[in-house]
Amino acid sequence: MVTGEQDPLAVSGARGRGAPALVADRLRKVVGSGAMAVTAVDGVSLQVQPGELVALIGPSGSGKSTLLAMLGALTTPSAGSVLIGGIDPAGLDEQARSRLRAQRIGFVFQRPTLVPFLTVEENVALAGQIAKQPSAASRPRVERLLTALDLDQRATFRPSALSGGELQRVALARALLNDPSVVLADEPTANLDVERGRAVMTLLAEHTREAGRAGVLVSHDPSMAAVADRTLQLLDGRLVGR
Ligand SMILES: Nc1ncnc2c1ncn2[C@@H]1O[C@H](COP(=O)(O)OP(=O)(O)O)[C@@H](O)[C@H]1O
Ligand SMILES: [Mg+2]
Repeated sequence: MVTGEQDPLAVSGARGRGAPALVADRLRKVVGSGAMAVTAVDGVSLQVQPGELVALIGPSGSGKSTLLAMLGALTTPSAGSVLIGGIDPAGLDEQARSRLRAQRIGFVFQRPTLVPFLTVEENVALAGQIAKQPSAASRPRVERLLTALDLDQRATFRPSALSGGELQRVALARALLNDPSVVLADEPTANLDVERGRAVMTLLAEHTREAGRAGVLVSHDPSMAAVADRTLQLLDGRLVGR
């Protein structure tokens, strides 16, 4: 975890009880340039409380991935702001922003990429090393996550030997390794059968509700919303129905 008084991530004004884990204020993102410019996200405001799992649904092209990337400090908004545990990533230099992502945010990408020459367990453990966790601390957690996701038989395999669904589950294990305060998952069950999709959802729900973390789960499938505490719908870059 973050220690040390000089650490900019340790300085946060809004980490008290009752503070939202994640805040978006009038977020806007213009992608492409010139005549090709598209407003992918157009004035989105939302708050996610600790312990809350929010589903974000909407048709393909509605801006879900673009919004998630801003919530996870992967891209800078064109306008508006994000607060992650009270911290505005736009106010950090690139190094501090990387540290914020590594330590506080678990991101599951729509198309997960793993390091091809590392095994499954090494890929998951790598997230701990990037966040500067001692490996003795993360090893039992790697094992626990791989077992929970039915991947223990794949621990020593390389990514090229895995199915799309297995890759997706490794990506989730990697995202949860450092016990992030915010988990952002972009269509994490799209490549999974029903049973494994349920295992992924259970793990996400446990992580958010029981560990008091915040989760945003993107899907184009409204039935996924059933597991979430709340559903937000995005259409043409705007939240609708509220
Ligand atoms: N890098 C980019 N360059 C140009 N257009 C983009 C880029 N990224 C996203 N878009 C466009 O922005 C809109 C929203 O995309 P995206 O956030 O990926 O939607 P979703 O995840 O809901 O399918 C789409 O019209 C998409 O084509
Ligand atoms: Mg998407």
